[in-house]
Amino acid sequence: MELPKTPGDRVLTVDSVSCTFSVRRGLFGKRKSLKALDTVNLDIRKGEVLALVGESGCGKTTLSRTIMGLQQPDTGSVSLGQHEISTLPAGQRARMIQPIFQDPYSSLNPRKTIGDIIGRPLVVNRIGSKSEQLAKVHKMMEHVGLPRRVFNSYPDQLSGGQRQRAAIGRALIMDPEIVICDEPTSALDVSVQAQILNLLLDLRDELDLTYLFVTHDLSVVQHMADRVAVMYLGEIVECGDRSQVLSNPKHPYTSALLDSALSISPDLSVPAPGLSGEFPNPMNRPSGCPFHPRCPMAEQQCREEVPKPEIIDTTFVKCWKARTFSHQAKHH
Ligand SMILES: Nc1ncnc2c1ncn2[C@@H]1O[C@H](COP(=O)(O)OP(=O)(O)OP(=O)(O)O)[C@@H](O)[C@H]1O
Ligand SMILES: [Mg+2]
Repeated sequence: MELPKTPGDRVLTVDSVSCTFSVRRGLFGKRKSLKALDTVNLDIRKGEVLALVGESGCGKTTLSRTIMGLQQPDTGSVSLGQHEISTLPAGQRARMIQPIFQDPYSSLNPRKTIGDIIGRPLVVNRIGSKSEQLAKVHKMMEHVGLPRRVFNSYPDQLSGGQRQRAAIGRALIMDPEIVICDEPTSALDVSVQAQILNLLLDLRDELDLTYLFVTHDLSVVQHMADRVAVMYLGEIVECGDRSQVLSNPKHPYTSALLDSALSISPDLSVPAPGLSGEFPNPMNRPSGCPFHPRCPMAEQQCREEVPKPEIIDTTFVKCWKARTFSHQAKHH
């Protein structure tokens, strides 16, 4: 299958995707619907790292699962190149989009050797002869920086960083187009986090990969991302180039996230000054702009009307006050 190869071409398009879960409260409670994704539009371009950030529960994993075809949207569609994801057979989909998860401890089978784990997708999909498969696994181990001697080791004989390298090798062995990384370093020791992040960046260049990178950590965004999408209550509220979004945020929520990241202190009882109030219950979505109850800029229009998306200086933003807000921030 031919997909666009020129840099900057879209490889993945998320078009007006909404996703609702039906949730029962308590054993005999009534079912209520929970809108986890609300009309999400997003495109990912060949070779870029697109970071997806937002508070816990905002819908990042649901969006990743929808992109991988593991979660069926209520409305809207996801396309990979020219192909709508839901029309691709599962095997082909998995070959083109691969996930790397947070926890390399639980994602690797403890009873299989590292060589078997990395080569398994080749065996399952019957790709190449035995000796070709072996050669591929050795080459991949080299790519991800695993010494040859761990080929016959079991996951519990490896360090956390090595385990994540093995998980990365398994994800890349089928030569995917897009890799979805859901907090791939947050379970790792701080000292190895940077190594794994740099490895992922090197692999992107060596293997021509495109990443969707889910993270809470804005220093990771700063280090990795070309573009950033900010999610709030199932909506993308701001999306643009990393430098624009981080240095000149257009949405008060992005700005608050940045403030709270800068102020994280060892004493977690100190509330972050940027974000007051709790993350709202997604079953009781606020009217108008979903961020209005926590927003210092909110006015009547924000409480009543859903913001119209607009583009300001190449950044996508959904906020009635975006123009005033970013102007003020610039001249602060
Ligand atoms: N299978 C499900 N059934 C019901 N509700 C779900 C389901 N999966 C997710 N949700 C709800 O959808 C919302 C979004 O969840 P999601 O896991 O996508 O958030 P997230 O941004 O990945 O959070 P985190 O940063 O904690 O991983 C949450 O309110 C969650 O409770
Ligand atoms: Mg998640």
